[in-house]
Amino acid sequence: MDKIEVEGGVQLHGEVRISGAKNAALPVMAASILSDGEHTISNIPHLRDIVTMGRLLSHLGLEVQLEHDRIKLQSDRIQSFEAPYDYVKTMRASVLVLGPLLARTGEAKVSLPGGCAIGARPTNLHTMGLEKLGAEVTLSDGYIHARAKRLNGATIYFDIPTVTGTENLMMAAVLAEGETVLENAACEPEIIDLANALISMGADIKGAGSSLITIRGVTGLKPMDYKIIPDRIETGTFLVAGAITNGTIKITDTNPDYVDAVINKLRETGAEITLGDKSLIVRGPDRPIAKDVKTLPYPGFPTDMQAQFMALMTIADGTSLITENIFENRFMHVAEMRRMGADINVEGSTAKVKGVRYLKGAPVMATDLRASASLVVAALAAQGTTVIDRVYHLDRGYEKIEEKLKTLGAKIRRIS
Ligand code: EPZ
Repeated sequence: MDKIEVEGGVQLHGEVRISGAKNAALPVMAASILSDGEHTISNIPHLRDIVTMGRLLSHLGLEVQLEHDRIKLQSDRIQSFEAPYDYVKTMRASVLVLGPLLARTGEAKVSLPGGCAIGARPTNLHTMGLEKLGAEVTLSDGYIHARAKRLNGATIYFDIPTVTGTENLMMAAVLAEGETVLENAACEPEIIDLANALISMGADIKGAGSSLITIRGVTGLKPMDYKIIPDRIETGTFLVAGAITNGTIKITDTNPDYVDAVINKLRETGAEITLGDKSLIVRGPDRPIAKDVKTLPYPGFPTDMQAQFMALMTIADGTSLITENIFENRFMHVAEMRRMGADINVEGSTAKVKGVRYLKGAPVMATDLRASASLVVAALAAQGTTVIDRVYHLDRGYEKIEEKLKTLGAKIRRIS
C-alpha cells in the first residue's frame, strides 16, 4: 500500500490548477446510459472512482474509452441491468446507475452500497422515489431490484436533501411519462451540472440548483458532448493548504461561486482571499483565529470540507466547535490528528478543538477520502515528518495531489 511522506513547516507559494469535479463526473457518466450513440465528457479528473465507474459501465455493455482528461462512452447496447456488489462495495456512487438503467431498460438490479467509514449511507430515499414513479422495488439478498414497464411522472418529497438521491431520481424522470417534481431536492453545483448535461441530451429540466426541480419526460435523448465543472472540494482543500502554511497560492480553473461558505469561514479565521472570475488567491495568516463551523447541505459549509477545516483549527488561536450535521461518523480523522499533538474532544456530533501552537509530525492512517486530505493538510503545517498510510483513500478523490503540492514547494513524496 502506498504511503505519503511530508516534511512540514514549509510555506506554500505558487499556482495550482483545479481538476474536474469527481462528484459531477460520476453522475454525468451514469447519464450516458440514458441514450444510445457516442457520448464525450471532458474535464474528467484522473481518479480511482472514475476508473471504477468506467469499469461498471463497460460491465453493463457500454464501450468506454478513457483518454487524457476525456472519456468516450458508446451506449448503443445495454447487455446487463445488474451492478454487482464487487463494484458497489468499492464505490457507493455506483448506486447512480440505478435510475438511468431503470429508465433505459425497464429493470435495474444494484447491490446495496453497504456502509462506509463515514456512515450507514442508506438508499431508502432513492427507492422511495422510484416507487413514486411507478417502479416495483424489492430488496433481497443485498440487492435493490427495480422494475417498471413505463415510469410515470410524480411529485417526490425528500425528507433529507440527498445529493445522489436527487441525481438518481432526476435521471429516472427524464424519460418518464409526464411531469415529475422533486421537492426538498439537493442544491449542490453537481446537481446543476448533471441537469445541464441531461438538457444537452434533450431533457426538459427546470429549477436544478434550487430545492424544487421540475422534469417533463421526453420520448428519447441524444448523446452528450459535455464538459464537467471544476471540483469545489479540491478548491477548498487548496484554500486551506494555503491558509495553514501561511503561504500564498493562486488557484486557477475553478469557480469561486461554488465555495462561498468556505471562503467566508476562512476569511473569518484571518486568511486573505481575493477572487478572480475563474481563480482565487489565498494568503494565510501568521496564525489562524479559532472559529466555529456547522456542516449543512449546500449552500451551507460542506461536510466534505469539515476534516480539512478541522486541521486548520488544530493550530488556531483559541477554541473552535466543529459540528457535523450530515454524517453520523465523520470524525475518524480526530484520533489521527491527536497523534500529531492536536487537542480535540468529540462530544456527539461536535468536536471541540483547542488550538495548539504547532502540530508534530507522526505516522498516521487515512480512513476515508476527505479525512486523508485533512491529514495531508495537517502534515504540511506540522513540525517534522509525517507518514500517511492507506493513501488509496486519497487517490479516490484527488488527482496527483502530491505533484500539485510539490509544485507549490511542499516537501512531499509518495512511498510505494
Ligand atoms: C454525496 O453523497 C457525495 N458523494 C458525498 O461526497 C457528500 O459527502 C454527500 O453527498 C453530502 O454532500 C457523491 O456525490 C458521489 P447524501 P450522498 O445522500 O449522495 C442521508 C466524497 O467525499 N440519506 O446527500 O451519498 C444520509 O445518510 C463523498 O466525495 C438517507 O437517509 O449523500 C446522509 O445523512 C463522501 N437516505 C444525508 O442523507 C437516503 O436514501 C446526506 O446524504 C440517502 C441519504
